[in-house]
Amino acid sequence: MGRLQDRVAIVTGGGSGLGKAQALRFAEEDAAVVVADLDAVKAEEVAEQIRTAGGRSHAVKVDVTDESSVQNMVAEAVSEFGAVNILSNTAGRFDGFKQVLETTREEWDGVLAANLTSLYLVSNAVLPVMIKGGGGAIVNIASGAGLRGGGGGAAYTSTKHAVVGFTRQLAAGYGHQGVRVNAIAPGLIDTPMVADFSRTEESKATLASYPGKRLGKPEDIAAAAAFLVSDDADYIHAATLPVDGGMVDTFGAHLSVD
Ligand SMILES: NC(=O)c1ccc[n+]([C@@H]2O[C@H](COP(=O)([O-])OP(=O)(O)OC[C@H]3O[C@@H](n4cnc5c(N)ncnc54)[C@H](O)[C@@H]3O)[C@@H](O)[C@H]2O)c1
Repeated sequence: MGRLQDRVAIVTGGGSGLGKAQALRFAEEDAAVVVADLDAVKAEEVAEQIRTAGGRSHAVKVDVTDESSVQNMVAEAVSEFGAVNILSNTAGRFDGFKQVLETTREEWDGVLAANLTSLYLVSNAVLPVMIKGGGGAIVNIASGAGLRGGGGGAAYTSTKHAVVGFTRQLAAGYGHQGVRVNAIAPGLIDTPMVADFSRTEESKATLASYPGKRLGKPEDIAAAAAFLVSDDADYIHAATLPVDGGMVDTFGAHLSVD
C-alpha cells in the first residue's frame, strides 16, 4: 500500500517537468491525481500514462491566473474523486533572468500572476474543500531564487521569495485546521523551462562544483514532494526544503578543504 493511498491530489503544472514528475510519483504512491495544466494535451498525456499503469487520474485544463478556471479545476476534482487532500502548486513561469530595468510592466504583471496570484487563487479554491475533508497537505514549488538573489530576474526572484512567505503564512493560518503546508526550493532541474541554459558547458561546470555534482532531475523534486505531502512528514510545517545538490547552502565543493 502506497503512502498516499486514499488521497486525492491536484498537481498544477502537471503536464510537464516538475509537475509531471510529481503527478507520476503521487500516483505510484497510490493517490488519485488530477493533472491540471494550461496545456490540455500534455495534461491528458500524463493522466493517460497514470491510468495505463493502473492508477486513477483525471486531466483538467486550467489557467491558474484565472479565478473561474481555478474554481472549475477544484469542482472537477471533487466531482471526479470526491475530495482534495493534497495540492502541489507547481505551475509557474520564468522571466529569463531579466533585471528590473529590462522588465516591462506586462512581463512583471504576468510573472506575478503566474507564480504568486496563482497561489492565492488555487489555495482559496482548495482550502475550504480540504478543511471540510478533515485536512490535507500542500506543497508549493518555490526555487533557490526564493532564498537568494541572482537565481532569476527581478520578477521571478520576487515571486519565489513570496512563495516562501506565503507558505509560512498558510502554515500558520491553517495548521490548526489540519492543513500542513511546506515548500520546496529546487535548484537547477532538467525541464523545458530551463533547457536554454541548464545543459551549457558553463552550467555543467558550475553544477559540478556543488556537492550534488550534477543537473537535478524532476524525479529528485517529486521524491521530496511525495515525502512532504505524506504522513511521514506529519511534524513538518512551514518549511522550505532546498532540493538543489547543495547549491544555495554551500560555496561549491571546489572551495572545500578536501
Ligand atoms: N526547472 C527548474 O530548474 C526549476 C527550478 C526552480 C523552480 N522551478 C519551478 O518549478 C515549477 C515548474 O517548472 P518546470 O521547470 O517544471 O517548467 P515546465 O515549463 O516544464 O512546466 C511548467 C508547466 O506549468 C504550466 N503552466 C504555466 N503557466 C500556467 C498557467 N497559467 N496555468 C496552468 N499551467 C501553467 C505549463 O503549461 C507547463 O506545463 C515552476 O514554478 C518553476 O518556477 C523550476
